Amino acid sequence: MRKGKLTTCLSVAAAFVFAVTILAFAATQAPDDITIKSALWPTLTKAPVALTHKKHAEDYKIACDKCHHVFKDGKNVWKKGDEVQKCEACHNEKTIQGEKKLPPDQQKLNLKLVFHKQCIDCHKDTKKSKADSKAPVTCAQCHPGAKAE
Ligand code: HEC
Ligand code: HEC
Ligand code: HEC
Ligand code: HEC
Repeated sequence: MRKGKLTTCLSVAAAFVFAVTILAFAATQAPDDITIKSALWPTLTKAPVALTHKKHAEDYKIACDKCHHVFKDGKNVWKKGDEVQKCEACHNEKTIQGEKKLPPDQQKLNLKLVFHKQCIDCHKDTKKSKADSKAPVTCAQCHPGAKAE
């Protein structure tokens, strides 16, 4: 009987580990397309922004860790396969007007500034080396149409 109980215990534990592994795996899969609309801003002043996530990674050949990071001692220790947190999990300063007047440490936490820095800096660099590039750099190219609710 004792042995039976132990076996049951072990298989329950194994099933649990298996389930946790699957859950963790699911959270690391790169989505094809993302509409970025942070919950930090319940009402947007601009339209939500489309990111062709898979195209960026595969067609434009941008390494995952160019955009995803977890810093330890100033080094990015995030690697492909690790869980991905939303940007706002860390960049949770939500000012969208006068954000450039925040102190430097607050600017690094400001969600609007870091999204703009990550997307626009790379697009500007891309345009320098590829004149016919379609990488958007103007407001309306990323925030099309009328403002969203
Ligand atoms: C050009 C930048 C960029 C590249 C390259 C990139 N990602 Fe992302 N990824 C993002 C952004 C931005 C989000 C949305 C984050 C948010 O909403 O806060 C995201 C979201 C995700 C999510 C979903 C997170 C969630 O909560 O829904 C996963 C998983 C993910 N990326 C994995 C990957 C993997 C794996 C790669 C490499 C194959 C990769 N990403 C390449 C920018 C990028
Ligand atoms: C686990 C926490 C965490 C997550 C998640 C995270 N970041 Fe960061 N990010 C940081 C830290 C910490 C720094 C470094 C700040 C410093 O240099 O002191 C940083 C720096 C940056 C910088 C440079 C800021 C500057 O002014 O130098 C950008 C741009 C940026 N992150 C964009 C993003 C984007 C976009 C996402 C989502 C795809 C994201 N981050 C997700 C923690 C995070
Ligand atoms: C590290 C570089 C890099 C980063 C970071 C990046 N992009 Fe791009 N993006 C590109 C390149 C390269 C292209 C393709 C340009 C071309 O050759 O036409 C592109 C094209 C685009 C396009 C037009 C074509 C398409 O696939 O839809 C959109 C929209 C776009 N990016 C949105 C974003 C957004 C939103 C972010 C930030 C969340 C972002 N990008 C971050 C490099 C980058
Ligand atoms: C390369 C793409 C890109 C460009 C160009 C760009 N943005 Fe954004 N912007 C983003 C992303 C991504 C977010 C985060 C989207 C979200 O969560 O709704 C954002 C967020 C914002 C927000 C905060 C959310 C809201 O809707 O109130 C404002 C305001 C904003 N942008 C204004 C601008 C203005 C003004 C310009 C032109 C000077 C501009 N953006 C250019 C990508 C871009």
